[in-house]
Amino acid sequence: MHTFLSDIKNVKNHYEQFPYPKYPLFASVPKEHTYALNLQSLWARYRQTWISNQHLKRTNILLAGSGSFSPYPTAIANSQSRIYAIDLSKKNLFRAKLHSSLHGCFNIRFFEESLTNICKHFPANFFHFIDCYGVLHHIPSPQNMQVLSGLSQLLAPQGLIRLMIYSKAARARIESARRAFKALKINNLNTIKHMLRRSSTLAELVENNFEATFDSGIADMFLHPYSKTFTFDELLEMLYQAELTPLEFLHPGREACLLQEIKRVRLLEKQKKLNFNFTLFASKKNGMGNSDAVAAFTSKRNFFVTSNPMLRSPWIKDHLLLPGKFGIKNPALDKKFLSSFHRIRDIRDYDSSSPQLKLYLDCHFLVKFHQIVTGDLL
Ligand SMILES: C[S@@+](CC[C@H](N)C(=O)[O-])C[C@H]1O[C@@H](n2cnc3c(N)ncnc32)[C@H](O)[C@@H]1O
Repeated sequence: MHTFLSDIKNVKNHYEQFPYPKYPLFASVPKEHTYALNLQSLWARYRQTWISNQHLKRTNILLAGSGSFSPYPTAIANSQSRIYAIDLSKKNLFRAKLHSSLHGCFNIRFFEESLTNICKHFPANFFHFIDCYGVLHHIPSPQNMQVLSGLSQLLAPQGLIRLMIYSKAARARIESARRAFKALKINNLNTIKHMLRRSSTLAELVENNFEATFDSGIADMFLHPYSKTFTFDELLEMLYQAELTPLEFLHPGREACLLQEIKRVRLLEKQKKLNFNFTLFASKKNGMGNSDAVAAFTSKRNFFVTSNPMLRSPWIKDHLLLPGKFGIKNPALDKKFLSSFHRIRDIRDYDSSSPQLKLYLDCHFLVKFHQIVTGDLL
């Protein structure tokens, strides 16, 4: 008990010293860059239903371990929803609040609290979307498991949760370095930055790693007081224990079929070729999963297709290249093609085998659904 509390306290102290991530306060996020966070389109992707604007106002989003930035893009993507940002760190929350209010986002409530106490504050089934990105691996075991079960209880029956946790394979070398620094009592950021400049082995470790581009990212890698990594089967077991089921993995190069993807990741892990952390959308095990919903409705109902609401601005540049968020490489945006879907279309009016239509659905520029959400489906 004592160790767990002191681990949490150390994690809090770490983030008070190194607020994460650290973006300049004037850094603004164009709407189109938030296309992967928009609940209306995510609900269509995974629930095959479209939440009307009227119903969107009744949706709740939880940022579980929000950090100093994510409330802002989440609020841009979901201006109608109520957003709750929970974090251990006062500094992170202060900065998140400042950043979002400076950019005119006021639909967020901020709570300084540990996720280990989250269930006290909200009723069961309250949230339609929970984003817990890069957090669970910083919560000591076995409390991380309890936190995930708590989040699962707070999730609405049809709700969606996005998780990112460190994979043992991808993180192995950074973890070894972190442990070595700890054993050698090297705990000064400047010393580590100096060593990164001097040692090609260390520099190679962080090559192409976005985190290495800013101080709190480097501190997160090498000075963090607690981080745990997971094998793929440990992740699946943790989801199972929390009564969650994966809907889609978002790993680079992922297979569209969930079972194929599980096979692929296990094989990569076995062959020691796995080089990514685990990112996925999941839902409650007893809620209707993606494939169930498809099976239940495809035979009986017709589908509609529309563009992701975040991609409808007339100011979007043609051929814009947005970073892929669903495990595949995005094509450059074809503005003319996309704009033909800004109104809801009947998919029967299109050739559903068209490669462009398929690709746009896969990378979440377009979404399809079979009905408009009514209150009871939420
Ligand atoms: C690596 S940062 C990720 C931040 C954010 N999710 C993002 O993707 O930018 C981890 C965050 O989790 C928070 N955190 C860690 N343990 C926590 C806990 N037990 N309860 C609440 N927040 C926690 C930290 O304060 C920190 O802001």
